[in-house]
Amino acid sequence: MSYLETAVEIAREAGALLANYFERRVRFELKGEFDLVTEADRASEALVVERLRSHFPSHAIVAEEGGGHESPSEYRWYVDPLDGTTNFAHGFPMFNVTLGLERAGEAVAGVVYDPLRQEMFAAERGAGAYLNGKRARVSTVRNLGESLASTGFPSRKRSHDVNVHFFYQVAMASHGVRRTGSAALDLAYVASGRLDLFWEFGLKPWDMAAGALLVREAGGRVSDMNGAPHNINSSPHLLADNGALHAPALEFLAEIFQGNFRTPMPEIK
Ligand code: IPD
Ligand code: CA
Ligand code: CA
Repeated sequence: MSYLETAVEIAREAGALLANYFERRVRFELKGEFDLVTEADRASEALVVERLRSHFPSHAIVAEEGGGHESPSEYRWYVDPLDGTTNFAHGFPMFNVTLGLERAGEAVAGVVYDPLRQEMFAAERGAGAYLNGKRARVSTVRNLGESLASTGFPSRKRSHDVNVHFFYQVAMASHGVRRTGSAALDLAYVASGRLDLFWEFGLKPWDMAAGALLVREAGGRVSDMNGAPHNINSSPHLLADNGALHAPALEFLAEIFQGNFRTPMPEIK
């Protein structure tokens, strides 16, 4: 089995486990003031890490809930055992399990699996992106004014977040901005043409490892919000889009960074 086939198999198994917990509704605990974690996050991570370790004992694993495995191997897995925990804990049906593999710092394979819709987004470097085995491609929208966008807000340090300015400006300049609560699905949706662009500040490497590869393999572009090459371990923010929107989106974001708002914030009268 290839790395991707193994990742697909593991994601399907972890997804079934998550769907099962979701039906039963689980209690959540707080990791930070508004940062939720559930028994399902931990059980899914234990399963994914156990399976990865039995298939690839020498590979390094970085997993969100801390159950990873350090190793000098050039292969490194990034695991988000449950992306969309806040949705999950509230019974809002939008979450996934995602695994991304790097070789010598370069993304080579990734999966994002939504168990409720049974949608498996999978990509391998140089071999394209797929949704349930069919080729996935980014949209062909060329103008920001005709685009559907998405973003997210961090659960940590959220009072310091400037993204509300970006949210408002893009919302006023596009068909709308969605806040799905699941960054890996945002990226998978850009890769499959359901969204035209996505941006977010402060994501973690496991949120993006698979999704960024999906977008690139589906013909889209990924950079930081200033247009610099994106690195899942060090970039402060991410912009992913269908490629055609990359230049206009960067120009628009640059204006917002400079405090040049095309639409002034409305006053409450
Ligand atoms: C979160 C989701 C959310 C994003 C947050 C992430 P989690 O991941 O991807 O959409 O806005 O920044 O932390 O905590 O549910 O795995
Ligand atoms: Ca996440
Ligand atoms: Ca998570």
